[in-house]
Amino acid sequence: MQILDGKETSRLIKQEITEEIAALREKGAKVPHLVAVLVGNNGASITYVDAKVAACEKVGMKSTLVKLSDTISEDELLQKVKELNEDDDVDGFIVQLPLPKHINEKKVTEAIAPAKDVDGFHPWNIGKMMLNLPTFLPATPYGILQLIERYNIETTGKHCVVVGRSSIVGSPIANLMSRNSYPGNSTVTLTHSRTVNLAEITRTADILIVALGKPEFITGDMVKEGVVIVDVGITRKPDKSKKSGYKLYGDVNFEQVKDKAAFITPVPGGVGPMTIVSLLKNTILAAKGK
Ligand code: GUN
Repeated sequence: MQILDGKETSRLIKQEITEEIAALREKGAKVPHLVAVLVGNNGASITYVDAKVAACEKVGMKSTLVKLSDTISEDELLQKVKELNEDDDVDGFIVQLPLPKHINEKKVTEAIAPAKDVDGFHPWNIGKMMLNLPTFLPATPYGILQLIERYNIETTGKHCVVVGRSSIVGSPIANLMSRNSYPGNSTVTLTHSRTVNLAEITRTADILIVALGKPEFITGDMVKEGVVIVDVGITRKPDKSKKSGYKLYGDVNFEQVKDKAAFITPVPGGVGPMTIVSLLKNTILAAKGK
């Protein structure tokens, strides 16, 4: 079994990005600027957004964190999105999800200018992705593709089983793995909560991508020898023995599958860090597009 080391791979990619930004600076070109909008006090969202801003600093990219109260109205948030759309100094921005219940996430996502939508969540960008046109790929699927590519994992003709059909991960990665490109050209099965005999399907996977948010859902008997496993799940459970007060769990029971898998992403240190470098790459792309 070989670890698909997202931490190390993302470190290498961050080095490349650092060089690219230093070169822009030297030329006197504008340094790309990412804005992250955080609404409310969701613990996981604060951690993710802080990590995104820290990654910008690390590579020399400009970043701004906009913190808004969870009592903000939908109209006020839409006004903030409009301001960011119109601000020439901002190359790309994200509105961290989930949003408070009184705010319509779809409406907010659709209000973001597609050219600044570095999350790749806007319907126009999703449509372009489906048509294999150049666009911002959603950060987590993009991160998975980069990890597969950096480890030279063969995907052509392989059976890729995706567990989970979210619009952020499962649906886009299913599309990307079936595209006529590398990584891609896989035969993809997209499974979800209504799938019958899931284990029978996962056992036929050459590549298994799991993104459903159920800790240790995939057990040893659900995978075959030699499978490549990408575990997107990350669930926090309280754990007094940890300094942070919690332990992170993936969607895959690592101990049970590790001797069968050819490659596997750990949690943490697998897909998570790759997601952040994808956002940085999309922001550079947005700046170039301008
Ligand atoms: N919430 C969980 N993942 C993401 C992400 O990639 N982008 C945003 N904006 N919110 C998220």
